[in-house]
Amino acid sequence: MSDEERVNDEGANEPENAETPLVLPGPPEEPQAEADDAEDGDTRPSPTVEAAVEPVVESAVEPIVEPAVEPVVESPAEPVTAAPAAPAEIDIPIPTVARPPLIAGNWKMNLDHLQAIAHVQKVAWSLKDVKHDFADVEVAVFPPFTDLRSVQTLLSADKLALRLGAQDVSPQGPGAFTGDIAAAFLAKLDVRYVIVGHSERRQGHGESSETVAAKAAAASAAGMVPVICVGETAEDLEAQGAAAVPLAQLEAALAGLPTGSEYVVAYEPVWAIGSGDPASPEQAQEVCRALRRRIAELRGPAEAAAIRLLYGGSVASQNIAGFMRQPDVDGALIGGASLDAAEFTRIVQFRKHVTA
Ligand code: PGA
Repeated sequence: MSDEERVNDEGANEPENAETPLVLPGPPEEPQAEADDAEDGDTRPSPTVEAAVEPVVESAVEPIVEPAVEPVVESPAEPVTAAPAAPAEIDIPIPTVARPPLIAGNWKMNLDHLQAIAHVQKVAWSLKDVKHDFADVEVAVFPPFTDLRSVQTLLSADKLALRLGAQDVSPQGPGAFTGDIAAAFLAKLDVRYVIVGHSERRQGHGESSETVAAKAAAASAAGMVPVICVGETAEDLEAQGAAAVPLAQLEAALAGLPTGSEYVVAYEPVWAIGSGDPASPEQAQEVCRALRRRIAELRGPAEAAAIRLLYGGSVASQNIAGFMRQPDVDGALIGGASLDAAEFTRIVQFRKHVTA
């Protein structure tokens, strides 16, 4: 879309190329008697800069030489300074495509490998009980690193359709990085998704946006799908509104990902995580919509249409339906509630709570 079309489309701003010619402020070359002099009751002609020393006072016998004050040269009637317009929202049409919902359970640092096996078995049985269709709603679990091998073995032995995810990854390849886990090791364990940039790592481990970008790139290069977490703190919300920080975090995280690569974005307002106080579905939609539009601007409408956006932060079976009704929310990242197999199953079954 050209600038002109965009302006016509949005109609809200007055950019420099609007039809009204700009009148720049400054002394007019040929000052004339101004209408506003009359308003003041001042009948004197407007002084020019040159003639200022001897203004003509109509009835004066002797010319009164006024003190040599700088004559006030009135600005032209309406000086139009090019006001710094808010950046126009670029209206890129995003095609409508079906995005399979993803319900992802982030266990955080909970459940050892034995507990993990028991928990995944429970989740699998209860989803089987309700005849869950994994092609309709994708389900993933994100256990701690030490559980991954056990869960992978269980999923493959029992041919379970649950997807496996990891909670973090090193931005480095294998080497002398004590305590880190390389993307290649995760890929070898059939890990499909990797969370990067969770707020508990950004805050608790000082992870910068550059680190998050490098982790997303490392996961993607190893054939996995990064789940890029973005979200504002309560202070950010107060100071900048809901979308500013998530948009900046998204843009930074995408910097290292080749266009066309698969990724998921999880919008998780920090104030909503683990607080029992989720964002409203409308708040989640507003930010997810802004995120999708930013993806369209940065990487094109096709990618924006295909990328799944999740909401995370105090999601439970009682509130999942509201989020899933939103057009730009394609799933949820669930912490606490994913540790309860029955509750997690109810969340996965959100279609049963979504009334048309
Ligand atoms: P919560 O956590 O569901 O316990 O709020 C979500 C998350 O941190 O991913």
